[in-house]
Amino acid sequence: MPSTESAAGVAWDRRRELQAFDDTKAGVKGLVDAGVTALPPIFRHSPESLEGITSSNHVAGAIPTVDLAAPRRKVRFASNFDLFSSAAANWRDTLFFHLAPDPAPSEELPEAVRDVVTEYGHAVTKVGLSVLELLSESLGLSSDHLRDMDCAENLNAVCQYYPPCPEPYLTWGTKRHTDPGFLTVLLQDGMGGLQVLVDGKTWVDVPPVPGAFIMNIGDLLQLVSNDQFRSVEHRVLANKSKDTARVSVASFFNTNIERSTRLYGPITDGHNPPIYRSVTAREFIATFNRIGLDGRSLDHYRLDRDTPTPAVEGCE
Ligand code: OGA
Ligand code: NI
Repeated sequence: MPSTESAAGVAWDRRRELQAFDDTKAGVKGLVDAGVTALPPIFRHSPESLEGITSSNHVAGAIPTVDLAAPRRKVRFASNFDLFSSAAANWRDTLFFHLAPDPAPSEELPEAVRDVVTEYGHAVTKVGLSVLELLSESLGLSSDHLRDMDCAENLNAVCQYYPPCPEPYLTWGTKRHTDPGFLTVLLQDGMGGLQVLVDGKTWVDVPPVPGAFIMNIGDLLQLVSNDQFRSVEHRVLANKSKDTARVSVASFFNTNIERSTRLYGPITDGHNPPIYRSVTAREFIATFNRIGLDGRSLDHYRLDRDTPTPAVEGCE
């Protein structure tokens, strides 16, 4: 059994390695470019969290394909937003864009993608709003109900870059999680690797469908729908390809996280008692950022929870 002293030493070494990785500002792409052949220890996940990593090859027949003709800087690069707080890092780099309500001035956008990012933001907003209309109707509400609750005021888009991983069975591209906002519109390329949890126990592949987006219900939509919609648990396998990176773009719709003081609680018709307490989006996202991908923020707001979560200030 390691002595307290050596355990502290290990934690310190890990911290130093995380810092050294973060300081490179080159992300996992930098490691791949440098020809890394073994997975650096900071990316190694525990055997429990890797359970099932090699066995899942179910096909997601049950996932419908629907044909429908967020510190502070607004554009930022990060490899692992929760690098220093998570149990292990993921094999992925992220380029983040805040696109609404106060988009980054165009000169802040990298030149190579300047026009396309703005254009994509407008196009994906139309898609998101159409889906929110359909979701409102299926809750028995008027079609503009969710939009009028400001569920699509804020748009953040993250471009995820998953380079080939030297030891893909020891780490994740993106560890299992749910998305914290209302709705995510996800665009994936043809590589595959995304999986969703069905029945609370079976991971199924979400194969790429050309021309289709993936719609993820987020935690806040689960909360306001009082569990009529379920926020989907999903994850991305580390890239097993030898030479081709996987790329995806996730567009997260939320209320105005910075400014909204609105309390979001379950919309109930009097027959179903509310399952969750009301919360501002700001507090909810702060909880998500604090917990990272290692836990479920939504559970903190269940009314049947024993101990209430202390209010959290600040948000990422
Ligand atoms: C996310 C996410 C999936 C993907 O960014 O929250 O789940 O395919 N992305 O990259
Ligand atoms: Ni996600």
